[in-house]
Amino acid sequence: MNTQTPVEALSPLEAAAELARLARLIAAADAAYYQKDAPDLTDADYDALRRRNAAIEARFPELARTDSPSRRVGAAPAEGFRKVRHAAPMLSLDNAFSAEDMAEFVGSVRRFLKLPESEAVDLIAEPKIDGLSFSARYEDRRLVRGVTRGDGAEGEDITANLMTIADLPHALPASAPAVFEVRGEVFMGKAGFAALNRRQAEAGEKTFANPRNAAAGSLRQLDPQITAARPLSAFAYAWGEVSEVSWASHWEFLETLKAWGFPVNPRSRRCAGLAEALTAFDDLDRDRASLPYDIDGVVYKVDRLDWQRRLGFVSRAPRWAIAHKFAAEQARTTVEAIDIQVGRTGALTPVARLAPVTVGGVVVSNATLHNEDEIRRKDVRVGDTVIVQRAGDVIPQVVAVAADAPRGPAPYVFPETCPVCGSHAQRPDGEAIRRCTGGLTCPAQAVERLKHFVSRNAMNIDGLGDKAAEEFFDLGWVKRPSDIFSLQRRATAGEISFAGRKGWGATSIANLFAAIDARRAVPLPRLIFALGIRHIGETTARELARLYRTLPAWTEAMARLAAGNEAARAELLDRDGLGDAVADALAEFFGEDHNTAELARLAEEIAAEPFAEAAAQASPLTGKTVVFTGALTRLSRNEAKARAEAMGAKVASSVSAKTDYLIVGADAGSKAKKAAELGVETLTEDGFLAMGEG
Ligand code: IVH
Repeated sequence: MNTQTPVEALSPLEAAAELARLARLIAAADAAYYQKDAPDLTDADYDALRRRNAAIEARFPELARTDSPSRRVGAAPAEGFRKVRHAAPMLSLDNAFSAEDMAEFVGSVRRFLKLPESEAVDLIAEPKIDGLSFSARYEDRRLVRGVTRGDGAEGEDITANLMTIADLPHALPASAPAVFEVRGEVFMGKAGFAALNRRQAEAGEKTFANPRNAAAGSLRQLDPQITAARPLSAFAYAWGEVSEVSWASHWEFLETLKAWGFPVNPRSRRCAGLAEALTAFDDLDRDRASLPYDIDGVVYKVDRLDWQRRLGFVSRAPRWAIAHKFAAEQARTTVEAIDIQVGRTGALTPVARLAPVTVGGVVVSNATLHNEDEIRRKDVRVGDTVIVQRAGDVIPQVVAVAADAPRGPAPYVFPETCPVCGSHAQRPDGEAIRRCTGGLTCPAQAVERLKHFVSRNAMNIDGLGDKAAEEFFDLGWVKRPSDIFSLQRRATAGEISFAGRKGWGATSIANLFAAIDARRAVPLPRLIFALGIRHIGETTARELARLYRTLPAWTEAMARLAAGNEAARAELLDRDGLGDAVADALAEFFGEDHNTAELARLAEEIAAEPFAEAAAQASPLTGKTVVFTGALTRLSRNEAKARAEAMGAKVASSVSAKTDYLIVGADAGSKAKKAAELGVETLTEDGFLAMGEG
């Protein structure tokens, strides 16, 4: 039989033989990928095999083998799941915690779209399910792949596990498009969770802290038969890659999902404006306890798709959606001790050690006390009974001391030296934070910086998490980030040895070195963020990369900045989103020789990929610097900036010789004059919009 015979043309005998062949090929490919870390097929070829296997099984379900690849993920004993890149990134959401935040959200949508008063913003309110998001891909209307969210860009292949969830259809009707990625949440209902924990306890197995953990533990099982036995459910609420979008609003999308057999949350509502949206929130908050599953808030989405498209994204979150969180759950417990933690920038943070208490389904034994003034204001003492709360993933907090319980004997005295290195801890006038002055000689700061460097949103080195970072630091193997990249060389040379170290078998070591090598090329924004410079979060790191493009260009400009060069500072401040605090922090960082020396060592070990605009299409504005002035009529200033950036332009705030175009609205003033003097070309708003159309 020709192995390319179309599935529809296979006889049952041929199909059985083909399934056996595919099971063998896929098992071999999995073993190469998982056990030898040496894939022998491209992702596309591997996917094609799995798809063909799934298609044959769909046509001849009775021939599906017990060792079918669709019932199994990875090769036993697998080290983990196969990684898959999302065709469209999986985003997260910004949070709102109050009606005011929600009003601000609707206001920002209105301003961005420049909507007239008369135009209402319809919002869809959906319960925010406390589970795990997934992406399920249908090709030719068959479920072919399931992936976890992962870091949003890349997730784990959980196809076989997702296929065991009865709520999700395996096939779609003929009206569905050829490629359809649906996204949603996998969760465990309250009753199923209680029953599972009962069974686990009876069998002497570990129980789960809450339904979310149980769902996560069940979905990430290498043996899908275990997943199949767990009471998992799903709701669908978004889409990824789709070959044909036939809906004009989110509401129509939800209706379409239902028609195609997807589970859509029955409490989803269409709200005409803010007031109705807030009512939907109150209704869900009131009914929360009686719902059969946990929710932690309400997600609102702008209904109109054309508006969603225009609103687009900032960083990792859409401008057209927001999560409105329910108020935090609270509990009472006692303070057993107050410890001081030292962070990567030297900040001393007081932490209350608590008698363990369950808050919102999670056992809490530590809570942050924020800073010196907070402790004094609340007068928290060792021995006090306190109210603690947690909201979502936020670190638990001490809200107040219980007034009706006996008090601890003495007010807490905040230390003036670093508890880790003994250096003086300074608190500059007007600041709330006391900081250790030990810099990198303080082990706490050094190890926290290391942990930040390897963390998921920074360098994302798999297999080198907090624990390993601490272990290597304590051993003296990794004192600073660049040491990570010489670990393998030193191990080979016999300078360090993993022999006899718990948890470091041959496979883990090989995986660690492979994960480190995989990060010898990183996108520039990640590297900048990973350095852990004060005030440089992910968004700012991205802005810096966008401005300077390459690592050498950035470090060169930063050296000038640190040396007090005015032009270097002006270039930075000219950029929207970069202000004095960022400039000062960068100048401080690059003013210290040990930092620049470390960056140089890093540059010898790894290559930072020059900044590449994610979605930028080649356009007449690619690589150009533009400035906006005057009142625009068709676009808000923010939308205009977002569009210019999407076309590959840099947006600056003042006109200089480097400006390529000045885009002028009504009543343009001094900038237009300056542009004329400098001979900078000007564009009207319409002229600018036309550039994006070509
Ligand atoms: S929409 C761009 N809708 O909440 C769309 N998310 O805090 C992004 N979640 O990662 C997600 N219920 O895991 C959306 N009805 C809902 C949701 C929901 C729960 C989760 C989801 C997301 C997280 C963001």
